[in-house]
Amino acid sequence: MGRELRDLRVSVTDRCNFRCRYCMPRERFGEGHTFLPRRALLSFPEIHRFVLACLPLGLKKVRITGGEPLLRPGLDELVSMLSETGVETALTTNASLLSRHAPELAASGLDRVTVSLDALDPEIHSRMTDCSIPVEDVLEGIQSAIDNDLGPVKVNCVVQRGVNESEVPALVRKFRGTGVTVRFIEYMDVGRTNGWSRGQVVSTNDMLEYLMGEFELVPVEPESPSDVATRWAHSDGSGEIGFISSVSSPFCGDCVRARLSADGHLFTCLFASGGHDLRAIIHEDSDTQVLTDAIAAVWRRRSDRYSELRSSETSSLPRIEMSYIGG
Ligand code: GTP
Ligand code: 5AD
Ligand code: SF4
Ligand code: SF4
Repeated sequence: MGRELRDLRVSVTDRCNFRCRYCMPRERFGEGHTFLPRRALLSFPEIHRFVLACLPLGLKKVRITGGEPLLRPGLDELVSMLSETGVETALTTNASLLSRHAPELAASGLDRVTVSLDALDPEIHSRMTDCSIPVEDVLEGIQSAIDNDLGPVKVNCVVQRGVNESEVPALVRKFRGTGVTVRFIEYMDVGRTNGWSRGQVVSTNDMLEYLMGEFELVPVEPESPSDVATRWAHSDGSGEIGFISSVSSPFCGDCVRARLSADGHLFTCLFASGGHDLRAIIHEDSDTQVLTDAIAAVWRRRSDRYSELRSSETSSLPRIEMSYIGG
């Protein structure tokens, strides 16, 4: 399909301090769950070398993900190493720990932050995250990202029918005029633990139609064909919102994202059954070109377009979990 490897998503931990029902349901990610042991995690120098190896393949952006990436101690050291390579560095976080880390992340060269926030209403928020961390901590995290110039800040909201649709207009109201872009994500069938069904998906069209009743929104031209979100602006110039419609309107033809798990497996699709184990080559102290060749070989062979298929062809295959691959 002629797709470049332009974005790399790097998971630095599979752990999280939230237990969002659609991502890490407590029944499956409770006391008995085995997370990756510390010794299995790629070190920061190893991640740095992996990023250097991707540069000749056209890499422009690295997004640090988790689980919750701020649970990994000393993340600012990784950010420093990555920003020295010249790639854009971004972080996707639940922001509960962001207010204490934003200054050091900004000083290390982090360019942008995206915050996952599904509800402003405290009751809906705690029901969805299934933990005792209050929504105020997340809002403080967002504010600290703004104050430390980690912007333009984006907020990701996964919308589930019967759970948080009411929060859609509330989030638009809250962030209008603040410079923060809220993006509404169609709930996806990632992993095998969340019990996804199509009936739980609220389509972008339904959300837009509803929002048009309250807000005057005009479409914005995409910056690049590989953008995951379609953008809409308030007609009075007070900001933008976005929609990520991977269920109703898949975008596999323009997919330029590779994903590296915290333990060194390379995935070419969010819905892959398995990754490519590159640990041996990552760990060995060989020439970076050897790693570049290995990554290129995986990338050239990829034919995935799961969201376009989303069919019986793939429904019985195992699938990696979101918390392992970071979205
Ligand atoms: P920016 O556009 O740079 O802000 O980043 P992003 O949208 O790539 O990253 P983010 O972590 O904010 O992801 C937003 C949502 O889009 C998440 O739910 C991701 O899982 C989803 N997403 C990102 N890339 C893909 C993709 O290639 N395929 C699918 N199906 N979903 C994706
Ligand atoms: N469908 C859509 N988005 C999801 N995310 C996690 N699980 C799902 C899912 N099943 C989102 C998170 C985060 C981003 C990386 O992916 O909320 O913002
Ligand atoms: Fe944690 Fe994000 Fe998954 Fe929620 S969606 S459990 S915050 S990794
Ligand atoms: Fe890319 Fe796979 Fe998402 Fe399609 S489903 S856009 S191939 S990650």
